[in-house]
Amino acid sequence: MPGLPAVDDDQLVRAAEGAGEQAYAPYSGYRVGAALLGWDGRVHLGVNVENASYPAGLCAERAALAAAVGGGQRRFLALAVAVEGPLPGAPCGLCRQALAEFGSDLRVVMSAIGGPRRTATLAELLPLPFGPANLDVR
Ligand code: THU
Repeated sequence: MPGLPAVDDDQLVRAAEGAGEQAYAPYSGYRVGAALLGWDGRVHLGVNVENASYPAGLCAERAALAAAVGGGQRRFLALAVAVEGPLPGAPCGLCRQALAEFGSDLRVVMSAIGGPRRTATLAELLPLPFGPANLDVR
């Protein structure tokens, strides 16, 4: 049922960890998996996809967001980000901005595989975001 999470944090983190195994990170060696939970209970996965032209690389969070939007989902409950540690994976500034387009209530679960976990809302991670309202949209 929309509005009720069908997937809990542990499941979402495990989905992100599983996704991270497919990360393409030959340059940094820093593999990231993301799992984005939509209001309809679907989980959209993403991984970082690096590129020999470094700036052309893509973060896992924005890959998950693109998969979700492409799949028809624009309302989100939670995002899990999993990395190989030692610190929990935290979305970069660009990803925070990209996610904020779709609302700042998002619960973000940042995890290090087998290590510490932190949880915050996107509003806490990116206060005062620039958004559609700034452009008088919606
Ligand atoms: N990375 C992500 O996938 N998500 C983030 O929020 C932080 C950084 C990726 C980008 C690059 O492939 C690698 O981690 C090292 O920066």
